[in-house]
Formats: sequence, C-alpha cells, structure tokens
Amino acid sequence: MGRRRQDHYARQAQRDRFPARSVYKLEEIDRRTRLVRPGRRVLDLGAAPGSWSLYLARGVGPGGFVLAIDLQPLRVELPANAHFLRGSCFDLGVEIAAAGPFDLVVSDMAPSTTGDRGTDQYRSFELFSGAVDLAAAHGRPGSDFAGKIFQGPSFEEARVRLRGLYAETRVLRPKATRTESYEVFLVGLGRRLPDVPEAGAPG
Ligand SMILES: C[S@@+](CC[C@H](N)C(=O)[O-])C[C@H]1O[C@@H](n2cnc3c(N)ncnc32)[C@H](O)[C@@H]1O
Repeated sequence: MGRRRQDHYARQAQRDRFPARSVYKLEEIDRRTRLVRPGRRVLDLGAAPGSWSLYLARGVGPGGFVLAIDLQPLRVELPANAHFLRGSCFDLGVEIAAAGPFDLVVSDMAPSTTGDRGTDQYRSFELFSGAVDLAAAHGRPGSDFAGKIFQGPSFEEARVRLRGLYAETRVLRPKATRTESYEVFLVGLGRRLPDVPEAGAPG
C-alpha cells in the first residue's frame, strides 16, 4: 500500500496550521490534566517538526517560556517566548539547566523504529527513562510531566519510577493515537520535593 490516506486529524492539523497531527494528542492530554498554563516554563523533548512547541508556546503565553529540543530541525518558526536547540537532549544538560527549572517537562520522543517490536519498545523505554531523568533533575517541586512510551515489558517499571517522583500518575491514550500504535502517555502530576528519595531507590 502507498501512503496512508490522510485521516481526520491530519486534515485538521493542516487547517489549524500545525506541522503534525500529534498536536491533538497533547491537546487531549492538556484538556484532561490542565498541564499547559499561562506563565509556565516548559521543556519540550522531541519537538520536531514543532506542533507541540507551537501549542505550548501559545498556552504558556508571553509570561511563559518553552525550550524545545530535537535531533531534527523544526518545520515552523517559533514565537518569541520559545527557543529551539538542535541535538540530543541527553547531550544538552548544561543548556537545559541554564533555562530551568521547569514547571512542565513533556516528551514526545520516539526512536527510529526498526520493525522489531521488542527492540522498538526497549528503545522507547530508554528515551522515556531519559526524559524522566531530565524531569527529575530540572523540574521544580510541584512540576508536572507527560511522556510517550511504547507499551511493552518495561512499561510497569516506567510507571513505578514515575509514581516515586510524582504525587499522582495517569496513563492516557489520546483519541488521536493511531489505532495500530501501541504508544501511551504516562503523566506525572505534582513533582515531590527532590529531597524525598525516589521509591525503590537504595538508601
Ligand atoms: C513523534 S516526533 C515528535 C513530534 C512533535 N511532538 C510535534 O508535535 O511536532 C518524535 C521526535 O523525537 C525526536 N528524538 C528522538 N530521540 C531524541 C533525542 N535523543 N533528543 C531529542 N529528540 C529526539 C525525533 O528526532 C523526532 O523528531
């Protein structure tokens, strides 16, 4: 089969001038959890082509700020309250620290898929875990987190880790997620005080 027929969300993204349909996943997550609020500082991991960054920049408004990071360039120009860094977020700790601390960390990062479900799930788990590490290091107490993960054997480990860091956790599968996809979003609300040891951590 050739290219997948354009679906409802892809057509809507064109009409709303977003470069990717994935914006409607964030929109639903936001509708259900109210993560995106005026004045917030947001770290957007895996930002290209830029739909989430645009949505976030509008939502936080002129008093807020979005730091968007991706290996790939963005396909949109961001407003003045957002800044894009190109590279792996795992190599940009200094720049992230300089822009933080953050009220919200989001990750829509996905690995280049191999077609082997086990490999793809594990790589997604690694990206998710790295995003949680960044949220733990650069999210202020009370901050929130939302990250994409492919469901698989490591999913429960990811959820337990998040429970140790946030007062409340939720698993969301937005309607805009493609039927055949096994991705979900793990949301952490209310970052606990950093001096509280993570549940399950030694010592
Ligand atoms: C599904 S796309 C993100 C779509 C984006 N949220 C939007 O709405 O436009 C996933 C992105 O994760 C990025 N990514 C994967 N590993 C990364 C890493 N280590 N650092 C930064 N970005 C990464 C990929 O380059 C890809 O652009």
